[in-house]
Amino acid sequence: MAERGHCSAFVVDTHMIRPAVPPRLKKGGQRSLSAAQTLLFLLVALALCGMIIEACFIYRLYQTEQISSATISKLLADETSPTRPPGEDLPPSKPVAHLTDGADVEHHKHVMRWSMVADPILHKMKYENGTLIIQEEGYYYVYSKVFFFLSSESFTHEINVKTERYTGGSILLLQSRNISPRSGRIQSNSFLGGVFHLYKNDAVYVHTSNTARIARHKSVENVFGAYMI
Ligand SMILES: *[C@@H]1O[C@H](CO)[C@@H](O)[C@H](O)[C@H]1NC(C)=O
Repeated sequence: MAERGHCSAFVVDTHMIRPAVPPRLKKGGQRSLSAAQTLLFLLVALALCGMIIEACFIYRLYQTEQISSATISKLLADETSPTRPPGEDLPPSKPVAHLTDGADVEHHKHVMRWSMVADPILHKMKYENGTLIIQEEGYYYVYSKVFFFLSSESFTHEINVKTERYTGGSILLLQSRNISPRSGRIQSNSFLGGVFHLYKNDAVYVHTSNTARIARHKSVENVFGAYMI
């Protein structure tokens, strides 16, 4: 009612001076002003609600992070605990061996020997005097890598097997030969790998033309292994 009164007062006024357009505008402006106020109020309320929800989410996220970091530390503690030494919690299903060089190793002139203190993997196979002795007949992937000094003399790297089924000596399985005209302290690598059918008590070993030419800086540079496929 007050609005209408106000308006009519304006209408009276404008009859004398100008057309009734501005008052109508003003009337509409007032209505949109109150609508804008409501909208502003709603927006502010919405923004506040949003902030509260955001705060809840941040709190929850922080709680989850705390829980997960606690879980991770617990898992790490479990892993490093002496009750579960690494590598022993899941034994391999098939025979496997991976041997490396080591400070404790003294090579034979030709046959390489392997470290028993450098944490070797040796499962369902025996190690004896440089040889891996097969315990279960089957197909095995056999490999070896050596790091050696080049010289004017050729260098050979082989994997051989001694078997009860053949008394004539060792059987050559894999060979790598290097002939270099240069001498000096130049070094090179040789890698051998292949699949062989091996029988119980077969003795597999790495033979070189001269183990004195093996470069022995790190144990991982000279390796020998086998696994049943
Ligand atoms: C160890 O291996 C080397 C090289 O094949 C051989 O000469 C030696 O007789 C072996 N020793 C034993 C105890 O089997």
